[in-house]
Amino acid sequence: MAERVDGMTPANTTRILVLGSKLAALAKESFPASPIEALADPALAGLDGASGRAELVLIEADALPTDTVVTAILRLAQVSPQPAVILTGASIPIVLMRALLKLERSDVLEAPFHRTELARAAAPLLRAADPAHSMCWGVIGAVGGAGATTVAVEIGAALAARGGGRGGCIIDLNLADGAAAAYLGVSANMRLGEAAAGPARIDSALLDTFCTPVCEGLDLLANPRAPEAFETATPQTVMRILEVAAHKYDWLIIDMPRHRRSWTLDVLHGCDEVVIISELTVPALIAARKLSQELETELSDRPAPHIVLNRMSNRLLGPAPTLREAQRALKREALATLTSDWESAAKSVNLGGPILHRQPRSKIVRDIAELIERLEADKTKSWDSGLRIGA
Ligand SMILES: Nc1ncnc2c1ncn2[C@@H]1O[C@H](COP(=O)(O)OP(=O)(O)OP(=O)(O)O)[C@@H](O)[C@H]1O
Ligand SMILES: [Mg+2]
Repeated sequence: MAERVDGMTPANTTRILVLGSKLAALAKESFPASPIEALADPALAGLDGASGRAELVLIEADALPTDTVVTAILRLAQVSPQPAVILTGASIPIVLMRALLKLERSDVLEAPFHRTELARAAAPLLRAADPAHSMCWGVIGAVGGAGATTVAVEIGAALAARGGGRGGCIIDLNLADGAAAAYLGVSANMRLGEAAAGPARIDSALLDTFCTPVCEGLDLLANPRAPEAFETATPQTVMRILEVAAHKYDWLIIDMPRHRRSWTLDVLHGCDEVVIISELTVPALIAARKLSQELETELSDRPAPHIVLNRMSNRLLGPAPTLREAQRALKREALATLTSDWESAAKSVNLGGPILHRQPRSKIVRDIAELIERLEADKTKSWDSGLRIGA
């Protein structure tokens, strides 16, 4: 019989089936809001009914006879729509690996592994099956004040201006003292600390109370200033907010905190693109290079982050490095540059609202449009396109 591990079934959570006795507890930690069924029976009675309901099947290869697992995988291959499958085990026999080839979406996790590895393995498999899942870009500053919030706000405003669809949301994960709400001239309504006690209770209705409408097609999720917010928000709460938001909006732009949090890599792993914002100083360029290298290593199964150089100005006006010198320091090409325009930036933040609305003729607006175009084309995945050195 299928045993119910989690009693709640919000409409927008992943329905999970676990085959094997020990994986259910770990699955519950990895997917706190998901309804989970577990089949520990070695004969897998009830598999056909349960697999028809599941979007993700986790199989503990070591807990079941190999023949049983092969049979289970072949039966899963017949289910329509086919669930994603993750096979776990300390040493997985070749015969099981071959059986997995019959599936549309599968992965293997070598035991022992952490709950975050399970969630990370599942994310791309689930995304591949969900065409309604939103696009998600993360923006992170290489150093303080590099312009991450400005870029996140302007990208959000520019995408919203296209109109149509379900619109998008800027999510400010600088939970203690984020500036996105002030830049946009709206209030911050996300009380993430209160939601931390029960991440499973975060659903689209609660998300609606957390959101602040900014303009047509654009909402903001931002915490009011709260010095303790980083301590009270758990990784489960942060990931759950993103999961529910991803079902509500066509796109998400995340303003990431610069300092590493327990959930930073999980959030970045879920992003389709990660943009590191640097300014044109040697310390910022070195920090951008190091941050990029760290993320490339730690998120090796995801596309490499992009670097954007902010506040570019005419060399004649100051001693800043040229683009060629900057890219030499970065040891790679930048995806895009943003012109320095203090007047437009300052006017907009002081009046409250994106530069796109307050100072539409600013070169920053034009440069953001170019940046979006490049991100959409993802031209620099192999580092062989984007800006030419010395351009
Ligand atoms: N291209 C630009 N030209 C001129 N000023 C800019 C530009 N981009 C950002 N600024 C200004 O630089 C300052 C810092 O920008 P912003 O707050 O976006 O940086 P940040 O990386 O988010 O900072 P923090 O580390 O505090 O989160 C702001 O006053 C902003 O208006
Ligand atoms: Mg900021």
